[in-house]
Amino acid sequence: MKILAIGDVTGDIGVEYLKNNLRKFKQTENIDFTIVNAENSASGNGLDRNSAKVLFSAGADVLTGGNHIFRIFPAYNFIDENKFVIRPANFPEECPGKGYLIYDCGMERILVINVLGTMFMEALACPFKTVEDILKKEKGNYTLSFLDIHAEATAEKAAVARYFDGKLTGVFGTHTHVQTSDARILPQGTGFITDLGMCGPIDSILGVKCDRVIDRMKLHLPRKFEYAEGEAEATGAVFTVENRRVTGIKGIRF
Ligand SMILES: [Fe+2]
Repeated sequence: MKILAIGDVTGDIGVEYLKNNLRKFKQTENIDFTIVNAENSASGNGLDRNSAKVLFSAGADVLTGGNHIFRIFPAYNFIDENKFVIRPANFPEECPGKGYLIYDCGMERILVINVLGTMFMEALACPFKTVEDILKKEKGNYTLSFLDIHAEATAEKAAVARYFDGKLTGVFGTHTHVQTSDARILPQGTGFITDLGMCGPIDSILGVKCDRVIDRMKLHLPRKFEYAEGEAEATGAVFTVENRRVTGIKGIRF
């Protein structure tokens, strides 16, 4: 079985790119299940009904979130109700949506968890404890398990992956929009990559128009971030699973 995970889809260009290219990539690589981080997929950040609809019809099975997931207030109902959208599990329980799901695809029941890092980010509940509690609660209800840890610090992502080595099928990081080249199988068998990267415009700074970011950093003046335009690409990782163990993981770019 092959599982594809794609990093932060950024703006209309990222959504459009997957609409035009995801099916073909899935066919070529024989992908059985696809997880897409969609927390920046709506026009103007966040996730909404429209961007989610296009991503699902493009071939995504599950959409995950991050620190921007609640940017669009009118989308709260949608995030709350859609069975295949998850938001970080360590947000307070009262927030819309859910932090994990179990996707029944016939031969496997795939647990997908989304959690936010807490280093250089919001002070949410402990990601270690949050994931541990979910695994305890759902024990016996799933056959494969994947974690999207949406975090700034590479060390935090590596620490969480290492802590759950052998307990999760795969762990992948998101949020930095930059793909790391460290895809590997950890000693106890969990497939891991520190960050998947993104799907969005290439000539940009993390998907945003370069001049806006440079001005903000150089002049310390407020500048409205706008998504860049032009040629796009998608990056992520493919996990190969045999007998419910990861036998391969590779970073991909298309
Ligand atoms: Fe993020």
